[in-house]
Amino acid sequence: MNQPLRVCMCTPELAPLAKTGGLADAVGGLTRALATAGCDVRVMLPAYSSVDRAAIRAVSIGSAGVDLGPSRVEVDLYEGRLPASPIPVYLIAHEPSFNRPGLYGEHGVDYPDNLRRFTVYGRGVLALLRRTAWSPDVVHCHDWQTALLPVWLRVEPAALPHETSTVLTVHNLAYQGVFDADDLPLTGLGRDLFTPRGIEFWGRVNVLKGGLAFADLLTTVSRQYAAEIQTPEFGCGLDGVLRDRRDDLVGIQNGVDYTVWDPASDVFIPARFTAEDLSGKAACKRHLQEAHGLAVDPAVPVLGLVARLAEQKGVDLLGATADAIIGLGAQLALLGSGDPRYEALFRTLQARYPKRVAVALGFDEPLAHLIVAGADAYLMPSRYEPSGLNQLYSLRYGTVPVVRRTGGLADTIVDATPDALARDVATGFVFDAYTPDAFLEAVKRAVFAFRDAAAWRRLQQAGMRADFSWRVAVPHYLDAYRRAAARRAARR
Ligand code: ADP
Ligand code: GLC
Repeated sequence: MNQPLRVCMCTPELAPLAKTGGLADAVGGLTRALATAGCDVRVMLPAYSSVDRAAIRAVSIGSAGVDLGPSRVEVDLYEGRLPASPIPVYLIAHEPSFNRPGLYGEHGVDYPDNLRRFTVYGRGVLALLRRTAWSPDVVHCHDWQTALLPVWLRVEPAALPHETSTVLTVHNLAYQGVFDADDLPLTGLGRDLFTPRGIEFWGRVNVLKGGLAFADLLTTVSRQYAAEIQTPEFGCGLDGVLRDRRDDLVGIQNGVDYTVWDPASDVFIPARFTAEDLSGKAACKRHLQEAHGLAVDPAVPVLGLVARLAEQKGVDLLGATADAIIGLGAQLALLGSGDPRYEALFRTLQARYPKRVAVALGFDEPLAHLIVAGADAYLMPSRYEPSGLNQLYSLRYGTVPVVRRTGGLADTIVDATPDALARDVATGFVFDAYTPDAFLEAVKRAVFAFRDAAAWRRLQQAGMRADFSWRVAVPHYLDAYRRAAARRAARR
């Protein structure tokens, strides 16, 4: 019998243990789907103080010294199991690095020693792999925080005692891990790599760039975003690097973990529902309106938004159009945290329209589920969106997405044109230009459509029937792993 493929997932986030956004959900969902498909997949996570060690039954498996350039620190290693699964999760613990309130920073400001923190993590992963008898076929890295691993695995032949190929997935090209050149020695990488074809970027260290140059294969989280990031408009300064590697770059649409995000079984919402019986959705809407100070009225459309409040999410389009949207007779249910500018905007809107705008600032998983379940439509006017998960969650909950045609939003939502409606394939409202007018026009289309209950029901049901499960993505990742192995073999 064939050996199962051994996949080492290296990630800075993993739902439900450590999450700031969709990356956690994506890695959690992909990991479970790969395990279901028969892979031997194990996850390596920094031991943030927020990780619930009891929930994963973590036990100590010893400690190891890791080099940080000229100095050396000790990391503690733990092994546990992903909740409700046999999947091993390893924690790399180093109190000075990870015993902090945030994952990457606080109050919108990054920790200044993030290069050091994620070097400790990455070196800890290698130390752990050297000590266990487990030798992965592929090390699959996610975002800049893990992107030193493909570099080390290429340029340090003794990093591991066995051959392994590397895949780097870009979840968001805007976050690159850029640091002072003086910090390079921490990583153990030599000056010979500090070149434009290596890890150097305008005189600084760019960790993601290093990973993009040295990983055997690159993936990103939708086909459209894979094409976009090769252009100057979306390339965040790295489009040239990505064009150079276009034959090794694959876009694979994220899926949804329907064990967590399904209105038929969701543990966070007050009533459950299905595409056949939407009465529970009406109860969720009522609860959302009641519990969050909105006027309780089933006839008023509630528009939801849950997001990291970053420029990416298009919150300024909402700011520019909120008065007009309220003027259409709609209500807004908003949850987010991040950039103080946008938090202030949310507060202003709530003060101006106490019965029409509900605002919660902070990170609140149950409320995120309630908004997705209770709202009628979901707003995602993103400037760019690598994949987006919230529009996919909304589809499943009969909450019709209003999205900008970019990245994964363009690939997953079918605009309600007369033709698409006639063919029953429309799932949402899509607009193109990043302007308040274009966004408002799409919101108006949604609000008018909401008034025709039968037509709205058909839109909801088309979305609820769509299948975005991770099962669909698994063969594409398996293919990426095969290609990565072939690339590595070809270099030998
Ligand atoms: P991104 O990864 O860019 O933040 P996604 O749409 O892929 O966008 O995923 C966002 C995920 O983070 C969703 O699961 C969403 O519910 C969650 N999320 C974002 N902000 C919050 C918040 N303030 N409270 C709870 N969940 C949040
Ligand atoms: C990023 C992107 C988002 C994507 C998520 C998971 O945070 O902003 O679009 O869905 O990663 O891949």
